[in-house]
Amino acid sequence: MAYDDLRGFLSTLEKEGQLLRITEEVLPEPDLAAAANAAGRIGEGAPALWFDNVKGFTDARIALNVHGSWANHALALGLPKHTPVKEQVEEFARRWDAFPVAPERREDAPWRENTQEGDDVDLFSVLPLFRLNDGDGGFYLDKAAVVSRDPDDPEHFGKQNVGTYRLQVIGRNRLAIQPVPVHDIALHLRTAEERGEDLPIAITLGNDPVMAIVAGMPMGYDQSEYEMAGALRGAPAPIATAPLTGFDVPWGSEVVIEGVIESRKRQIEGPFGEFTGHYSGGRRMPVVRIDRVSYRTNPVFESLYLGMPWTECDYLVGPNTCVPLLKQLRAEFPEVQAVNAMYTHGLLAVISTRKRYGGFAKAVAMRAMTTPHGLGYITTVIVVDEDVDPFDLPQVMWAMSSKVNPADDVVVLPNLSVVELAPAAQPAGLTSKMIIDATTPVHPDTRGNFSTPTKDLPEAKDWAAKLQRLLSEARG
Ligand SMILES: Cc1cc2nc3c(=O)[nH]c(=O)nc-3n(C[C@H](O)[C@H](O)[C@H](O)COP(=O)(O)O)c2cc1C
Repeated sequence: MAYDDLRGFLSTLEKEGQLLRITEEVLPEPDLAAAANAAGRIGEGAPALWFDNVKGFTDARIALNVHGSWANHALALGLPKHTPVKEQVEEFARRWDAFPVAPERREDAPWRENTQEGDDVDLFSVLPLFRLNDGDGGFYLDKAAVVSRDPDDPEHFGKQNVGTYRLQVIGRNRLAIQPVPVHDIALHLRTAEERGEDLPIAITLGNDPVMAIVAGMPMGYDQSEYEMAGALRGAPAPIATAPLTGFDVPWGSEVVIEGVIESRKRQIEGPFGEFTGHYSGGRRMPVVRIDRVSYRTNPVFESLYLGMPWTECDYLVGPNTCVPLLKQLRAEFPEVQAVNAMYTHGLLAVISTRKRYGGFAKAVAMRAMTTPHGLGYITTVIVVDEDVDPFDLPQVMWAMSSKVNPADDVVVLPNLSVVELAPAAQPAGLTSKMIIDATTPVHPDTRGNFSTPTKDLPEAKDWAAKLQRLLSEARG
């Protein structure tokens, strides 16, 4: 099932019992964010939340926690809601192989219904803005898909980028944006600023659920997020032409904001409670001038709570980080079996691999650190044997505890790049990185006293089924 817009997905969530309408009147702060924060604390079937009775707003429709459980993530991919997380990752990886699927251009985008332009632009009259964490420095649009083009190659469809970059509302027509240097929009902005030019952008809010997934996905620079959305949806992604910039934007967005990142201007942005479970602090960031807003009648404002994991952000960027890493590694090392990079947006990754020869596992780890995601995030890589499941943390701990001789198996590399937000970096943006090789040494690496590993007895599987049957009979 492919959803063309957020509304279609919300109605499926409701039918599946995965959307909760809160009808009582609530305060915009702290109730909206506190409810979304709480959704991350009530277990893996948590619903999306819908609010339309918010004190102080006459006309608000707010959706929160839309991807915020494995059940909702499964439904976003058109899978049954009880699909186990590992199966979701495997299915995601299978669909990746259909990339690229050309998008379908449509004319009648619903966000053309209403427009504000020039001096009339006033975000406060379109969106019911509210703060998330109690130390945040302002209102944020934190689940937007932002479209920009390479100023040196504007007609290249693949180099047109769609990425999620959080935006602080700093005026009725002004935003501050945080382009992390390893991300594609930072390359676009750098090129524009080197030419002394503004960078046009289109900011799309309230998107179909697969668009939100691909916008936060670390793909190659010239790979199109729309063509990946088509692969994941199993149907071409519907796109439309944004009226001011001419950029390709999702057909079904609730709101499309167009303008420019003003060349070489910076303004204090933040603090903002981050995916690392820490605040960002206040930092100088580029500034957006909004020239046009297009929006559906009665727009739904979709926002995402993030902070101390797990939150919606962790579900949203879990599989979409694991799968690109798996595919990018396998392209060069077919021995790689699986990647789990679901903790704190993949600041840590666990990789299972077969080994060609001694030292191979460390090479795989170093390659992971130079993928698009690895450059800016992966700080620790744990490599395990091919028969250890990276998603089974007790197995990973077994490998770490039984296979690692720290003097040779732990490698620390100094002064590598990481997002400034990584709290342990020193200075911000630079860190040492660690490889923990928890694989069994193979020739010519003869270290250790590894005898034949014990395996579960062949009969144990049948016995497990029998024990479960007997137990449920005994319990009635
Ligand atoms: C909710 C959310 C907020 C994000 N905020 C930012 C941000 O402010 N700046 C940034 O550079 N990346 C941010 N990211 C991460 C990028 O969207 C993600 O790493 C993506 O792969 C970047 O793609 P790109 O390399 O094509 O630009 C955010 C991701 C999510 C899911």
